[in-house]
Amino acid sequence: MTVFETQNLTRFYGVRCPRCLEKTGAAAGTNICPDCGTVVALNNVNLRVPKGEILGVIGESGSGKTTLLRYLYGVDFGATGSALYRNPSGEMIELGELDPAQRRRLRDREFGIVFQNPHQGLNFRISAGGNIAERVLVSGERNYGNIRERATLLLDRTGVPTRRMDESPAGFSGGMQQRVQIARALATEPCVLFLDEVTTSLDLSVQAKILDLILELHQRTRLSILLVTHDIGVARMLASHCIVMRYGQVVETGLMDQILEDPQHAYTQELIGASL
Ligand SMILES: Nc1ncnc2c1ncn2[C@@H]1O[C@H](COP(=O)(O)OP(=O)(O)OP(=O)(O)O)[C@@H](O)[C@H]1O
Ligand SMILES: [Mg+2]
Ligand SMILES: [Zn+2]
Repeated sequence: MTVFETQNLTRFYGVRCPRCLEKTGAAAGTNICPDCGTVVALNNVNLRVPKGEILGVIGESGSGKTTLLRYLYGVDFGATGSALYRNPSGEMIELGELDPAQRRRLRDREFGIVFQNPHQGLNFRISAGGNIAERVLVSGERNYGNIRERATLLLDRTGVPTRRMDESPAGFSGGMQQRVQIARALATEPCVLFLDEVTTSLDLSVQAKILDLILELHQRTRLSILLVTHDIGVARMLASHCIVMRYGQVVETGLMDQILEDPQHAYTQELIGASL
């Protein structure tokens, strides 16, 4: 079963000319069209996100990872091509045909997201518990006691000391802020979780603990997860499947283990070599 499937998903930033696609990509070694200067952030991306699995999206800076995630998550509407999403009832929905309100509904009801920068995903003017409560409210719960109970449960489950739930996350460590972000993302019981470089800015030991938490959550809930990272080591730890992106194109796709053992593309071999 597939939760997302894209066909020729393409995202331009700029004026575009007829040669943009052929003059950019992995073989061309750039994502900027030399004729017109347009950035081709996604260049005919075809991928499948298996339901209930963790798909690692690996690639260097500028390869298009965040652009892909933003389109599927539903905060960017500018891509062409097809992106199908299978909702919990099993219907396949073409994301490009939804209006902004429908995209918002998906973000609120069915998706969760965690960003590299906690400032992007958390409101530092309210408490950690308040950050969770905001999302519990979105899911329709109105009873104060129930909301607080659910926030406590989520913080506890993600390893945030619940005695700190009334403090602003501004005073938390980086690792603790990521835990609050994860608790917040889970508040609406999403079926898809989008993770964009969630451990990149953390110390290695803290990074390992957050990765453990994600793995444990996944084993318990069987969420579908899109894990964006420039670090193949992170993907190796978590992902069962992976795609490797370069200059807006997918250069490698398959099972994580297979790709580690037998990478087809020279760039993937390079990445693996560099991570050993
Ligand atoms: N709003 C924008 N306007 C113009 N160019 C953009 C815009 N957003 C992204 N880009 C360009 O699109 C390309 C892909 O960017 P993207 O953020 O998806 O890369 P990434 O793989 O997430 O990189 P990183 O690892 O640095 O986060 C880059 O060349 C970037 O400069
Ligand atoms: Mg990015
Ligand atoms: Zn061009």
